[in-house]
Amino acid sequence: MKATIDDDRCRGHGVCCTICPEVFALHDAGYAVVQIEDIPEEFEDAVEDAARSCPERAITTS
Ligand code: F3S
Repeated sequence: MKATIDDDRCRGHGVCCTICPEVFALHDAGYAVVQIEDIPEEFEDAVEDAARSCPERAITTS
């Protein structure tokens, strides 16, 4: 699985970083970045949860 953040949509709410800090981190510039390119299976549920929970719908998974 891969996760992508749309920088145009992300407003830095940080919900993703709270739900799955192993994968998402808040960049100094105020938007989230994906820290792991190929997401391990153990984090997939949390990443899906983060994608659903983002108020801006900025996270997509594939
Ligand atoms: Fe950005 Fe959504 Fe995370 S707005 S910081 S991708 S919860």
